[in-house]
Amino acid sequence: MEQFLADEHATLALGAALANVCPAQLCVIHLEGELGAGKTTLTRGFLQALGHKGKVKSPTYTLVEHYELAGRPLFHFDLYRLSDPGELEFLGLDDYLQQNAICLIEWAQRGSEYLPEPDVLVQLEYRDHARLATISPRSQRGEEICEQLHI
Ligand SMILES: Nc1ncnc2c1ncn2[C@@H]1O[C@H](COP(=O)(O)OP(=O)(O)O)[C@@H](O)[C@H]1O
Ligand SMILES: [Mg+2]
Repeated sequence: MEQFLADEHATLALGAALANVCPAQLCVIHLEGELGAGKTTLTRGFLQALGHKGKVKSPTYTLVEHYELAGRPLFHFDLYRLSDPGELEFLGLDDYLQQNAICLIEWAQRGSEYLPEPDVLVQLEYRDHARLATISPRSQRGEEICEQLHI
């Protein structure tokens, strides 16, 4: 489905809406779009909806930032600086893919086959000064998430 995001608040609200329908099991969301498209902004809305207060660091150099929110682990990846997908082997990805974890992954395409398949893919594009989001389910769980999404 497509959603026009008129301003930053709309991007934050989409992140919050996704957070609110994330099931209790492992949930993987890939965020695609060029620099400045709003991937980190959407993540901020997602984290805040789960109770995060304060800043959201872009894990550009660390590749991943870990949060504990609403009693479950959340991992925010930003793979922009990943030069070789093989580097992900050293990150111990299996540790992140726990039963009830949420993984939000910016620049997932740079991780290629080392990353888990997404449940939901969110593509963000520029529309003049605003953005357009295309939200696509990529698994059975993703279908359920998208059905429940009220935006
Ligand atoms: N729907 C929107 N319309 C206009 N500006 C937006 C929208 N969503 C986010 N922004 C702005 O665009 C920039 C996006 O930056 P960021 O979220 O860091 O992008 P990315 O992580 O994709 O590189 C921020 O300055 C943010 O305020
Ligand atoms: Mg970003």
